[in-house]
Amino acid sequence: MAAPKLEVDRIGKSFLRDGRQHRVLDDITLSVGQGEFVSLVGPSGSGKSTLLQLIGGLLLPDSGGIRIDGETVTGRKGLISYMPQQPALFPWFTIEENVTMALDIAGGAKRSRQALREQAHEWLARAGLGGYERQYPRVLSGGMQQRASFVRAMLSPQELICLDEPFGALDALTRLHMQQWLLGLWERHRRSVLLVTHSIDEAIYLSDRIYVLSSSPARVVRQFAVPFPRPRDEKMLHSEAFLQLKQDIYGLLKRNEDAYE
Ligand SMILES: Nc1ncnc2c1ncn2[C@@H]1O[C@H](COP(=O)(O)OP(=O)(O)OP(=O)(O)O)[C@@H](O)[C@H]1O
Ligand SMILES: [Mg+2]
Repeated sequence: MAAPKLEVDRIGKSFLRDGRQHRVLDDITLSVGQGEFVSLVGPSGSGKSTLLQLIGGLLLPDSGGIRIDGETVTGRKGLISYMPQQPALFPWFTIEENVTMALDIAGGAKRSRQALREQAHEWLARAGLGGYERQYPRVLSGGMQQRASFVRAMLSPQELICLDEPFGALDALTRLHMQQWLLGLWERHRRSVLLVTHSIDEAIYLSDRIYVLSSSPARVVRQFAVPFPRPRDEKMLHSEAFLQLKQDIYGLLKRNEDAYE
């Protein structure tokens, strides 16, 4: 049997603050199967973004390791498509250049520049950014930059995509539109996705499984399988079973949230 796409194996991580080590992640173990859609929910400040940075090789853990396709890759960069929580567009490149550069860097796409540009234009239009291809990031709103950053992550050729609150800055309708688009893309291409979100609705709507983290130091409290069949549509959001699962996850989060420091 193929190894999972991603394995996070007993990761521990502390940061130095005020001269003391603060433990942020406490023996986190989780996995994303090949072609699986997994979400991570947990209180603000629990260490979700830190975990994605560790998976992306931008930080090193104090203990434990990261495997992709069964191979230890702890600390290696460039192996995943990663959308950070704060859109990190290069201010001196246009939107089109920003969203296609990952393809150039990864060198994965042996497609012509022209084909690349066409797909980028189509997806930018899909994200409500048609007409902004030649603009620079500074003329875009925060939510528009977030959408451009999302398009870049989805255009990147890596099979594992890690998204950190990709739709956090969007209004409810745009958010639903982007979620449906992501769901459609995922159902067609089945890349492996790890999504960090504050929205329990979003986690249930999109995922096969959900991990719930406690507050600091973060531990995996429980994982939930999401039993709803695919393809999914927004009607699911109003079903009895959906509301029950949402309540279960919410209750667990509440019970494991310490008072803020
Ligand atoms: N580079 C760093 N140096 C020191 N402390 C850090 C660093 N990065 C994160 N932290 C601390 O680690 C903890 C977890 O931060 P992190 O950003 O991972 O949380 P989060 O779960 O993503 O929160 P949110 O849901 O608000 O985005 C916080 O206490 C934060 O202050
Ligand atoms: Mg975060």
